[in-house]
Amino acid sequence: MQLVAILGMLAFAASAEAAPANPLSRRTFQSAIKNVVILVMENRSLDNLLGGQTTAGLENPVNSGPYCNPYSLTNASMGTVCTVANDYDSILNDPDHAVYGNNMEFYGTFTPSNAAIAAGTLVPTQQGFVQEQLRLYSSVSKTTLAKQVMGYYTEAQVPVLTTLVKNFVTFNHWHSDVPGPTDPNRLALVSGSTYGHGSNDATFKAKGFNQKSLFQSVTESGRAWRNYHDAAGGTGPEASWFNWTYAAGLSNRVVNLPQFYVDAAAGNLTALSFLNPSCCGVGTTSMHPSGLISAGEGLIKTVYEALRAGPQWNTTLLIITFDETGGFHDHVPPPLAPAPDALTYTASTPSGGSYTLPFNRLGGRVPTLLVSPWVAKGFVEQKAANAAGSTVSYSATSILNTLGLLWGFAPYNPRVAAAPPFDHLIQTTLRTDAPLTLPAATPFRAAKMLH
Ligand SMILES: *[C@@H]1O[C@H](CO)[C@@H](O)[C@H](O)[C@H]1NC(C)=O
Ligand SMILES: *[C@@H]1O[C@H](CO)[C@@H](O)[C@H](O)[C@H]1NC(C)=O
Ligand SMILES: *[C@@H]1O[C@H](CO)[C@@H](O)[C@H](O)[C@H]1NC(C)=O
Ligand SMILES: *[C@@H]1O[C@H](CO)[C@@H](O)[C@H](O)[C@H]1NC(C)=O
Ligand SMILES: *[C@@H]1O[C@H](CO)[C@@H](O)[C@H](O)[C@H]1NC(C)=O
Repeated sequence: MQLVAILGMLAFAASAEAAPANPLSRRTFQSAIKNVVILVMENRSLDNLLGGQTTAGLENPVNSGPYCNPYSLTNASMGTVCTVANDYDSILNDPDHAVYGNNMEFYGTFTPSNAAIAAGTLVPTQQGFVQEQLRLYSSVSKTTLAKQVMGYYTEAQVPVLTTLVKNFVTFNHWHSDVPGPTDPNRLALVSGSTYGHGSNDATFKAKGFNQKSLFQSVTESGRAWRNYHDAAGGTGPEASWFNWTYAAGLSNRVVNLPQFYVDAAAGNLTALSFLNPSCCGVGTTSMHPSGLISAGEGLIKTVYEALRAGPQWNTTLLIITFDETGGFHDHVPPPLAPAPDALTYTASTPSGGSYTLPFNRLGGRVPTLLVSPWVAKGFVEQKAANAAGSTVSYSATSILNTLGLLWGFAPYNPRVAAAPPFDHLIQTTLRTDAPLTLPAATPFRAAKMLH
């Protein structure tokens, strides 16, 4: 395992000093980080949101593309369309992100063979994003629809994220846990499994989940948490999905987002702060279509500046990630990963057949950043060694595995155990050069949603 980690470091860490996982870096992690802040945004792939970032180590359209999709998987004479810089702030026609939609986008069929996927003989080609968008929105022009899923944002269009990429750590190989929609992915992020749920069903709002969550583990470790959510609603709040939260009498730990800024300024942030943006239309902050990218940038800027100015900055790790890819193109095929449990999810598909997801593979690649005075400046992390010594891609459950190392709780299941932790990205010295403020998020062609 050590050897794999060292080889990985030699191969990838040419430009910065991220160390492989070892007892020293774990102790550094535990002494440095007292406050973890997790902000989960909505529905954007890496090639879409960070596709124009020029920082070395990021494989994206501007650095290693262009990447192309055919208009039709069955009629080549309809031509192809390639990744292109966007000239709009959001899109009106939300791409397909159901489990079967992800299947079409990755494998070119709603019902891929699970046996062939597990055997490695059927690998994702990432060729079906444009065809699926055209199927969903038959009344919109095909060039507009193609641009909606194949487009990417330039560095100048996302100045907040660009500044964070250039100052902190960005992951090049971080995938959502489930090739499916929001709530199952958010559930996996905080509990390691969807418990067989593959859609945003009624169980989430019904406090219907009994499994152990990050909120329970933090509490059992003798620490506290707060789940800050936007009163406008739209995402989570994840802590309210679990029976345990109510049984433990801790539902008052789910509070409105403005309280986060009060707590950050007062030095009153708990060990874990979990932040939910609002979602999903114009005026919401999660970056979910048709919410503007610039509105999401505004939220990230406000959260960062509150932490940076607050008395707890020196002990803070901010994790900014996304729930899933939202049906936007990404050229990196999602890898296999161990199933967390034996549960499956079955849905009927637009082609008439049904598809059963065994939860043995990850979703698409999403943007994820580590922001802290303890991480390297402008470093891009690649894959990493997991507990079994394999070099693999990160996923949302890497957060659970890493926080288990920080706060002393065991992985909940095989999926969490196999996710690489990222404690080795915490350095031994505190940086004092982190920017005090970030650039203003600027709407561009705000009135020109692409539709
Ligand atoms: C294939 O696409 C071409 C170009 O759009 C079109 O003219 C042709 O009718 C299509 N063929 C079929 C079988 O749909
Ligand atoms: C994107 O967000 C919508 C609204 O929350 C949700 O229904 C959908 O599941 C999300 N995306 C994906 C890929 O699922
Ligand atoms: C949640 O907990 C309550 C009380 O323990 C229990 O009656 C209920 O069945 C649980 N809900 C689900 C969906 O399991
Ligand atoms: C810190 O938070 C706790 C719990 O919400 C609250 O009781 C306390 O007044 C807060 N302290 C400050 C200084 O804001
Ligand atoms: C954070 O650390 C820096 C460098 O040691 C120090 O100058 C600063 O006062 C610290 N900030 C707080 C709020 O403790």
